[in-house]
Amino acid sequence: MTAPDELRQKLQSVGQEHVLAFYDELPKEHQELLSQQIDALDFDLLNEWVETYVRRKTAFEIPAELQPPEIIPSDGGPTAEEARKRGEELLAAGKVAAFVVAGGQGTRLGYEGPKGCFPATPVVKKPLFRLFAEQIRAASIRHGVTIPWYILTSPTNDTATKAHFRQNDYWSFDPKDVIFVMQGTMPAIDFNGKLLLARKYRLAVSPDGHGGSITALRKSGALDDMAGRGIEHISYFQVDNPLVRVLDPLFIGLHDLAGAEMSAKALPKNDPMEKLGNFCVVDGKVNVIEYSDLPEDLARSCLPDGRLKFSAGSIAIHLFQRAFVERLTEGGRCLLPLHRADKKVPYVDTTTGQSIQPEAPNAVKLEMFVFDAFPLAEKTMLLETRRQEEFSPIKNMEGVDSLATSLHDQVRRWAKWLEAAGVSVPRDADGHVAAAIEISPLYADSADELAKKVDKTISISPGQNFYLGSRGQIGGA
Ligand code: UD1
Repeated sequence: MTAPDELRQKLQSVGQEHVLAFYDELPKEHQELLSQQIDALDFDLLNEWVETYVRRKTAFEIPAELQPPEIIPSDGGPTAEEARKRGEELLAAGKVAAFVVAGGQGTRLGYEGPKGCFPATPVVKKPLFRLFAEQIRAASIRHGVTIPWYILTSPTNDTATKAHFRQNDYWSFDPKDVIFVMQGTMPAIDFNGKLLLARKYRLAVSPDGHGGSITALRKSGALDDMAGRGIEHISYFQVDNPLVRVLDPLFIGLHDLAGAEMSAKALPKNDPMEKLGNFCVVDGKVNVIEYSDLPEDLARSCLPDGRLKFSAGSIAIHLFQRAFVERLTEGGRCLLPLHRADKKVPYVDTTTGQSIQPEAPNAVKLEMFVFDAFPLAEKTMLLETRRQEEFSPIKNMEGVDSLATSLHDQVRRWAKWLEAAGVSVPRDADGHVAAAIEISPLYADSADELAKKVDKTISISPGQNFYLGSRGQIGGA
């Protein structure tokens, strides 16, 4: 532990000594906690952040030349068959790992626990983590191999996430194949460039964004673990999308055949202002420009044939070559550009000792976004995907991207799979599915797989809660 005088001097030199306002009155263990947090700060970087993002409020600059990217159509194009086969070979050879980023705070959903514990399916109300676990296990069984699952947590939800897995027997995984990776944090900085105290003995910090996952993979030893297991590709997805195909052979195969260091799935935006990152090309490199950074005139601009110019939205499904993540983190970490967000950050007033709950934003939170790694990749690949099959996230309490919209989309997709397999599904006069339908990924996690297995004579009544379990047994109430 750094001596208090040295700590004070260090902080004075950067104008941050106020964070020691209560130091002398703290019990020893709290003094240690605070010292450790301060020791972990990189003061040169802190000064740079204050100058660049707080005082100057550096805004995102739209590149002068912005072009739409090339995207492989959702059927996979002319090499689809070869690519699907290649993807399956890679899965069967144990060269692909699953990686979910679940370190976010889920503020918009208003759910207390880690978002992965949120009950998200129409009949069984499976937590998101269980839904993904079943997909990964299904792929492991199908390919006769152990597929490891890496889970990004943050200091805010790491303990609760691990407890959820313990309480649920790791959703039938061997615990050694579920690897938790804790991301780093960034200090909150008030509008005068000062660090804030969340408690008298703790700095106010927040997770460093999903871009922090890259460094976290390195620092936690997860990259070495992957290398030891012979993993070549990392299948990255967000915790909020129950429709995600966690391990998609076509996507994996196209990425591998293209020799891409980083790939993504893209979908045509619903409307020009939809809140999705926008795929663009800048200086010959794929970039994602966040919805909040793309000016409306550009978001609405069209090609000569009338189609939207920047129609490709990011659904945050990526593949990384493990070697690319290693390259990015050579020397220990990967510093992606920072993005500023002004937030209400509760703090302890260092002159009065009072806890303050601000009513308006009072501080800057800095985050890294994983898609900023795109321009650092030598080669990239983008595959278009179909919204109804693969994207219906749960982000908000109500309205768009809420539990209600996602449940509706999950039922619609499973109903379509059943109908394609020849099973009759009840629909109302408007053509909407008139039952709650859910299928375990352990039974079938694609329309094709379902068609091969399902008994076409099963009947689903209007209003039924219909669940097709892991062995094809029918459940629900
Ligand atoms: C995100 C993308 C957006 C994309 C959309 C698709 C950003 C900035 N934008 O929007 O381009 O079109 O998803 O659904 O990401 N997370 C962490 N650690 C963090 C922060 C986030 O693990 O420090 C995880 C969350 O748990 C979640 C995911 O990253 O799984 C997305 O985070 P969120 O902040 O909800 O992004 P969106 O604004 O919804």
